[in-house]
Amino acid sequence: MRKTIVAGNWKMNFVPSRAKAFAVEMKDKLDSNKVEVILCVPYVDLRSVKDALEGTNIKVGAQNMHYMDEGAYTGEISGAMLRDMGVPYVIIGHSERRERFGDTDTTVNLKSLKAIEHGLVPIICVGESQKQRKQNRTQGVLRKQLAFALDELTADDMSRIIIAYEPIWAIGTGETATDQQAEEACALIRQQVEQRFGKAAADKVHILYGGSVTPDNAKSLFSMPNIDGGLVGGASVVPSFEKVVHFE
Ligand code: PGA
Repeated sequence: MRKTIVAGNWKMNFVPSRAKAFAVEMKDKLDSNKVEVILCVPYVDLRSVKDALEGTNIKVGAQNMHYMDEGAYTGEISGAMLRDMGVPYVIIGHSERRERFGDTDTTVNLKSLKAIEHGLVPIICVGESQKQRKQNRTQGVLRKQLAFALDELTADDMSRIIIAYEPIWAIGTGETATDQQAEEACALIRQQVEQRFGKAAADKVHILYGGSVTPDNAKSLFSMPNIDGGLVGGASVVPSFEKVVHFE
């Protein structure tokens, strides 16, 4: 049995003082023994949110990291820095970073390997565009992104990573994938993990769906056999996020 994971992706929202106030206000409502709740917040909010969540089961995550440990990389944050801060999770290869900030299949792989090396759990994002779906290329796109992302990872690593299927056309658009579309893609991802690393590894790996998850659709999506929870953007920075977390 895989534990359900609900990860909020705050994106570039909440100045640190507001982030802290939101975390303080929400922590008891979001705390859960049944669901692993993760708040992926802007770097500058990590400290205040982490402190505010102390004493709860809720974890924090970053939204990106560099694949080098240190050096002349102005403006970047390394996995070593996140580890030292006690940040357990990090989103890698979100489509907004792939589309606008130069993340590629290769850097997604390097960042994922580095995250694992530091004991961080990478939340690796894959997903097709609207055009690719219309051209019936969804499966091929997912296979390629996943093959790159998982290069040089091991079967053991499958219990140390999270994969998020995030169709780009569903992100921030209000157009959610249907339960069947999401399940089909997540099943394909699990099948690919199985082909590569075996059934035990595929049974362990957590696969999330992301893209316009709301309190209304969370339950049916998260109840699909191959969907182990969600990566939630817009619906994670409002009080009703509580209803996504307690979706049952
Ligand atoms: P959304 O974003 O829930 O606002 O669609 C999801 C994501 O980008 O991870």
